Amino acid sequence: MRAHEAGAVHADAGSPSALLMSAPSDVNRLAPGVWPLGAQRDGATGVVTLAGHDVRDLAHEFGTPAYLLDEDDFRGRIRAWRSAFEQATGAEADVYYAGKSFLCTTVVSWLAHEGVNLDVCTGGELAVAVRAGFDMHRVLMHGNNKSVAELREAVERGVGLVVVDSFEEIVRLAHIAEELGTTQPVLIRVTVGVEAHTHEFIATAHEDQKFGFSLTGGQALEAVRRVQKHSSLDLRGLHSHIGSQIFSTEGFEVAAHRLVDFMGQVRDEIGSEVSLLDLGGGLGIAYTEHDDPQEPRAIAEQLAAIVSRECHARGLAMPRLAVEPGRAIAGPPTMTVYEVGTIKPVDVGQGLTRTYVSVDGGMSDNIRTPLYDASYTCALVSRASTAEPMLVRVVGKHCESGDVVVKDAWLPADLAPGDLLAVAATGAYGRSMASNYNHVPRPPVVAVTSEGARVIVRRETIDDLLALDIE
Ligand code: LLP
Repeated sequence: MRAHEAGAVHADAGSPSALLMSAPSDVNRLAPGVWPLGAQRDGATGVVTLAGHDVRDLAHEFGTPAYLLDEDDFRGRIRAWRSAFEQATGAEADVYYAGKSFLCTTVVSWLAHEGVNLDVCTGGELAVAVRAGFDMHRVLMHGNNKSVAELREAVERGVGLVVVDSFEEIVRLAHIAEELGTTQPVLIRVTVGVEAHTHEFIATAHEDQKFGFSLTGGQALEAVRRVQKHSSLDLRGLHSHIGSQIFSTEGFEVAAHRLVDFMGQVRDEIGSEVSLLDLGGGLGIAYTEHDDPQEPRAIAEQLAAIVSRECHARGLAMPRLAVEPGRAIAGPPTMTVYEVGTIKPVDVGQGLTRTYVSVDGGMSDNIRTPLYDASYTCALVSRASTAEPMLVRVVGKHCESGDVVVKDAWLPADLAPGDLLAVAATGAYGRSMASNYNHVPRPPVVAVTSEGARVIVRRETIDDLLALDIE
């Protein structure tokens, strides 16, 4: 496993740009494993359909850009994670969907129906769960700087677990719980010195980052002591989160080794064993066909085996396992549909031309390419084409040259204004990180099933944008 410098550009190490330099033999083919399960190119018309619906009709009805979400795919993934962990651990599974990846009241209702818990990290995310009437015992709250108001809201609402992240927070939370005459179950966020991205991880003695209590220097053990001092806090277990877009379990293995070692120290310190080990999220998905994520079942089996082996080696009982997948549930079922606006060949020197294809959205609906140098797959979806492939860069409509949606893609050379383009796997950290940059209203999220299509988050309007201006 190669160590790497983990930095801000972290989500998509190993960009496939170079691989993309060779033209595809079939520019109409939808790359396998990347698109929503219900997306297909119709053999007769050449149009892409989602759950049987022609994307041209969906675009006509809901406008562009729009996030089109394959509801069966999304819900199937919730179920797959749940049953994978139930089977691997032989117990009721503690799968917490990471709401930061994409959250709205409808998604919360799906979690409730499919029997999965919810991880929130702000009062705003908690408010969505409250609005949806979600069982608060099934909510876990993160955050390195939760406000007193957020902590109070969480305790008052009966949030199942608060993940404590600082010494100040331990005192604040304890006082709030005491004042409200209750006992708040907590996990301690431990910084295990592992940072994993894609196929690589680094394991260090300590990490230079804002989350959690470091294992080195006794900080995490001190956190345990301080939690134990407060009868209004109930220490249930430990939490760690090692990174994003992870494809192999080696990083989790090192993290589990260190966490279980620490569980032994905790037992020696408090005389009893903690019962829950939350390994966080970060499981990777395919943004391009060069990404090769594992199935939930394989991941669950590996994680359960790793923790069981580590516990056995130290004479500890197997704790209940928890995980927090966000991207792996929300990412793949959604594609963003845009309309092509302008097409501009640009001379990039050395006799090379790059064709810039501008669409009617951009960095306001998907910041991941500019922010993380992320790679995406896109396709012409409103028709098939017999034209040769051309190498393009898909860009947005924002007043900024870094407004790139897909860095390198092959699209048919007869691409024209008015064509519809779709970008795959935009469901996680797309709408949830969307902005109103340049006063562009955020697109709707449309849930599509074979029965029909419905808006679950409506499109913002110019009036929405102006509603905050005070004259
Ligand atoms: N649990 C914790 C404590 C986290 O911090 C995160 C993500 C997750 C779970 C869910 O991770 P997932 O399974 O979705 O990878 N905005 C970035 C990702 C930042 C993730 C932050 N924490 C992106 O667009 O790639």
